Amino acid sequence: MARTILDNIGNTPLVKVESADNDDSANIFAKIEGMNPGGSIKDRIALNMILDAEEKGLLKEGDTIIEPTSGNTGVALAMVAAMTGYKAQLIMPNTTSPEKMKIIKAFGGEVVLIEKNEWGEVKKVIEKIKDRIKNGEKLVLLNQYENKNNPGAHYIQTAEEIIAQMEDLPDPNFFVAGMGTGGTITGVGLRLKEKFPNIKIIGVQPVSGDTIEGLRSLEDFIPPVVNLDLINKIYDLEAKKALEAKDELAKTKGILAGPSSGAAFFISKQLAAENPGATIVTIFPDRGERYL
Ligand SMILES: Cc1ncc(COP(=O)(O)O)c(C=O)c1O
Repeated sequence: MARTILDNIGNTPLVKVESADNDDSANIFAKIEGMNPGGSIKDRIALNMILDAEEKGLLKEGDTIIEPTSGNTGVALAMVAAMTGYKAQLIMPNTTSPEKMKIIKAFGGEVVLIEKNEWGEVKKVIEKIKDRIKNGEKLVLLNQYENKNNPGAHYIQTAEEIIAQMEDLPDPNFFVAGMGTGGTITGVGLRLKEKFPNIKIIGVQPVSGDTIEGLRSLEDFIPPVVNLDLINKIYDLEAKKALEAKDELAKTKGILAGPSSGAAFFISKQLAAENPGATIVTIFPDRGERYL
């Protein structure tokens, strides 16, 4: 049977990306999520949340999905919505890259921009959407910040792929993930900790005041999907360092990825330098073309 584009979500490659200054001792393996059809890790959760909402009868043909998103979930929802006959309205900060907005529109999605300050208080953004629904607007909020099918997609899919891809490699000592909703670190972290009980789960968030697109500081808001008990340490990273590491990925590894991939790479390299011989698994969440 012919496979649709949605059947090609996931099964992304795991690539070895040693640090340039420490090539022999570092063992950093990155999952290249930009190779998903919609260009980011968010394809996985968009499909999982939509399938679950359909199963529960919450989403029917012709419905409009509404979602607060830093962009990638918007792209993914617009793509899946285009395939499944829904409309998508995406509420995004005005700092989102123009490319992401154009991609969403190309998939037929509607972009609604809000001020960066307003976006910083995402709890209020979600409340406003819930009020619109209470007041009778026919919208379906999947809510990646609260929806268990966000970490669930990573528990059942992303983590299992990593485990299979690590089969012939040493057991990982660290898992490093940038944190936006916290869905990735929670879903992958939980499954990897079950499989490798000694693994350390490491989060990366922007230092207060800086923007690393896709990431968000827990100082602003602790999303209900995050399981803080799982996380051994969270690093606050300056945006400048994430951007430099993103450029290093393109120029020395041939991987054109986004700023949050740079953030994950920077902290993975730091851990590699501090722990010679350690095996580190990380996630590069999206493609770099959408930040040019
Ligand atoms: C580019 C990028 N990187 C990382 C993340 C963080 O992923 P998560 O929401 O699973 O914490 C996001 C989430 O929006 C993202 O768009």
